[in-house]
Amino acid sequence: MEFSHKSVLLDECIEGLNIRKNLIYVDGTLGGGGHSYQILKKLNKTGLLIGIDRDKDALDAAKKRLSEFNNFKLVHDNHSNIKNILSSLNVNGVDGILLDLGVSSYQLDEPSRGFSYMNDAPLDMRMNREDKLSAYDVVNTYSEESLTNIFKNYGEEKYSKLIAKKICEARKVQNINTTFELVDIIKSAMPKKALTEKQHPAKRVFQAIRIEVNSELTLLKKAVEDSVMSLNKGGRLLIITFHSLEDKIVKHTFEELEGRCTCPKDFPICVCGCKSYGKIITKKPIIASDKEIEENPRARSAKLRIFERK
Ligand SMILES: C[S@@+](CC[C@H](N)C(=O)[O-])C[C@H]1O[C@@H](n2cnc3c(N)ncnc32)[C@H](O)[C@@H]1O
Repeated sequence: MEFSHKSVLLDECIEGLNIRKNLIYVDGTLGGGGHSYQILKKLNKTGLLIGIDRDKDALDAAKKRLSEFNNFKLVHDNHSNIKNILSSLNVNGVDGILLDLGVSSYQLDEPSRGFSYMNDAPLDMRMNREDKLSAYDVVNTYSEESLTNIFKNYGEEKYSKLIAKKICEARKVQNINTTFELVDIIKSAMPKKALTEKQHPAKRVFQAIRIEVNSELTLLKKAVEDSVMSLNKGGRLLIITFHSLEDKIVKHTFEELEGRCTCPKDFPICVCGCKSYGKIITKKPIIASDKEIEENPRARSAKLRIFERK
């Protein structure tokens, strides 16, 4: 299947990165290379772009997309390892980093990846197919309590408990192998009225399992902190999030890195050791215009936050 993904908030990211020739930029979520292509265009054959993705399909697609340039390096890794990645490339500091979080449209649309409740496929959902944990393992081995918590916390699913219970009952009879088997179990656990809602009944549970499989939230704080520490003075970190839990982590980590005291209000003196590493550029997140949302509905939930290193 052709790699197709429409970049979100593209102009806003290029402007926000404040790209200057001869400098070094990192695209920590390379995907199809949509943002990277524009960064390389701005660099105008000078400087360097380092593109990171944990999905080999994305790296292959981006390599083709960027083939007219030769000032880039692609790395198959998790961007939360940014410090190691840069040191293995002998790069001491970079001048801008972009993280456009979540999955690409390609990953969602390619049936064999098992991300989508719209296609029947083996339960997988790993962004990096070399990772051990897959959606199959989560669905077939996690306890009822863990599943309930994951659906509630990562999917904000109202019927978490009922769905987790049904999954555990179903897998006693036989393992749950495919996305459509899981969709049927989710639907059978929900009250009838929930099945007529606008949103697909399995959407929230699929999102929750994907977040668990790929440790999307557990690695995010480290990725934000290590990215900021990898920036040169004046360099910027841009992060696009697609749901409220991610955005909350980015917002709070930016506030901590700006030096906001996190001690309880009634403490007479500060004991949290807060220190400022730079400033937040976006007091409110940048969101997509009506025009962009009309052309690309996926942009509706995108929020862009920017931090500048001092
Ligand atoms: C929304 S897409 C990026 C699209 C890209 N900006 C473009 O314009 O084509 C997100 C990509 O980031 C990758 N990704 C997500 N989390 C990652 C992580 N922690 N480390 C490395 N890559 C990650 C996914 O595999 C996916 O290819």
